[in-house]
Amino acid sequence: MEGVCVGIFSEPVIVEEVSSTQDWVKKSDFPQFKPFIAKRQTKGRGRRGKRWFSPPGGGLYLSFKLPKEFFVEGRELSRLSLVFGLSVSQAVDTYTLSKIKWPNDVYIGEKKVAGILIETNSTDLVVGIGVNLNMDGFPPELKEGATSIYLATQNRVDFYEFTTLLLNYLSENILRFRSEGFKPFVPAINRKLLWKGKRVVVDQRECGRLLGINEKGLAVIKTCFGALKTFPYGDISLRRG
Ligand code: BTN
Repeated sequence: MEGVCVGIFSEPVIVEEVSSTQDWVKKSDFPQFKPFIAKRQTKGRGRRGKRWFSPPGGGLYLSFKLPKEFFVEGRELSRLSLVFGLSVSQAVDTYTLSKIKWPNDVYIGEKKVAGILIETNSTDLVVGIGVNLNMDGFPPELKEGATSIYLATQNRVDFYEFTTLLLNYLSENILRFRSEGFKPFVPAINRKLLWKGKRVVVDQRECGRLLGINEKGLAVIKTCFGALKTFPYGDISLRRG
C-alpha cells in the first residue's frame, strides 16, 4: 500500500506491532487523514473498557484522525458512527453479507465481525476500526459472540485488498456525509440494520421492537407497552429480546 492514497486519506502507515493504534493517532503530531494500521496490538481496546482481541495475521486494526470542524454534523457522533459502520459493512459485503448492529458494530449472522471506537480530543475525532479478517478461532470468552470473514466463508481475505476497499468506502461516505448530511444514508442503514422488526432489549431494562433508525441516527423502539421511544448513541447495549 506504500505510495497509495485513497480519497481523503493520505498514504497509510503500516507497522508490525503497537499497544493500540488509537494512542499513536491521538498524539498531537500525528497527521489528520492518515490511516495508521498495525498487524498486531498488544493492548487493543474496545468500547466500555473492554479489550479488543488483536492477534497477528488475524485482523485489521486501523485508526485515523479527522478534524472536528470537517463536519457540520461532526458532533453528532451517533450519525457519524453509523456512517463508519455502513462503510465497514459495505467492505465486508464484498466477501459475505453483513449487518449493522446499532450503534457501532458489524455482524455476520448473529456474530460480531467488526467494531468501531470513536474517541475525541479537543480538536479531532479519533476513529478506531477493528475487523476480524482471518482469525480461525477466538478465546473462550469471545467464542460465542465473535466471528471472522474467514470463519464465515472458509476463504482467506487479502489484508491489503480489504484495507483498500474499506478506505475507499470510508472516504466516499465521509465526503457524502459532509456535503449532504445523514439523510441519504438512512435507507441503506435501515436495510442493513440487525434485528430490525425484531424484539430487542436496551440496556437490560427496556424491551420492545426495533423499528429502525431515524434521521438523527437514533434507534426507534416500540416498547412492550406500546410507546415509541428513541435511544441516543452512547454506552447503550442492544440485545436480542
Ligand atoms: C468495539 O467494538 O468495542 C470497538 C473495537 C475497536 C477496535 C479498534 S482496533 C483499532 C483501534 N485500536 C484500538 O485499540 N481499538 C480500535
